[in-house]
Amino acid sequence: MDTQYTKVAIFLHWLIALLIIGMLAMGFLMEDIPNELKPVVYPLHKSMGLTILALTVFRIVWRLMHKAPALPEAMSALEKNISHAMHTLLYLIMIGLPMSGWALVSSSPKGIPTTWFGLFDWPHLPVLSEIDNKKEVSHSFGEVHETLAVIAILLIVLHVAAALKHHFVVRDNILTRMAPWLKPLPPKE
Ligand code: HEM
Ligand code: HEM
Repeated sequence: MDTQYTKVAIFLHWLIALLIIGMLAMGFLMEDIPNELKPVVYPLHKSMGLTILALTVFRIVWRLMHKAPALPEAMSALEKNISHAMHTLLYLIMIGLPMSGWALVSSSPKGIPTTWFGLFDWPHLPVLSEIDNKKEVSHSFGEVHETLAVIAILLIVLHVAAALKHHFVVRDNILTRMAPWLKPLPPKE
């Protein structure tokens, strides 16, 4: 069993985490920005979201090829199961959130094309761009997108709380193996 995350896994973890946190803030703020900024901000949101989707697909493939380090012996079987379940949920949300965004723009009656940072056209999901009741379907995907964003915030808060508890209370190497620039704290007296 490996004892460390690979450099690639660590790099992707922090890059995707930063992008997702930025995108959550951007998503909730962009509805209220002045109208003249929307044609700049919305395409940016879409391009960044699709980038997160592509990076996540690569990350999952990488993860399937490189085992994660084993959890500390001191953790109970229940704690280990909760940890694995949380990580699976985080991966599901990292796919589901951008997919629901992609579905919402693909079915939008506005029919605005999606380009990746203005460099090339990103295709809309084929079935959704051809349906009749676009307004309702796009609205429903919008609701899903928003709900998944709220669930993402909850999961991230729990995930960060668990990481901080491991570092500052339990004082094991869980945080430092994902953040190798930090030092594990000495055991408590
Ligand atoms: C991890 C990636 C993403 C995150 C964290 C994210 C987050 C959000 C949030 C928090 C909102 C505001 C809540 C809402 O109105 O639904 C939002 C809105 C929106 N997102 Fe995303 N999003 C992501 C990916 C995408 C992608 C890939 C697309 C399209 C290709 C997209 C398109 C949109 C659009 C068009 C809206 C406005 C919806 C409306 O006004 O009804 N998002 N996003
Ligand atoms: C959007 C934000 C974040 C997402 C989506 C996310 C997602 C994930 C996922 C999916 C894993 C599992 C890695 C694997 O074994 O394949 C993971 C591990 C980890 N994350 Fe995050 N993370 C985020 C932010 C953070 C932050 C801010 C911290 C620190 C305060 C953190 C600390 C950790 C640690 C310590 C691990 C390793 C857990 C272990 O070794 O079992 N994460 N994260």
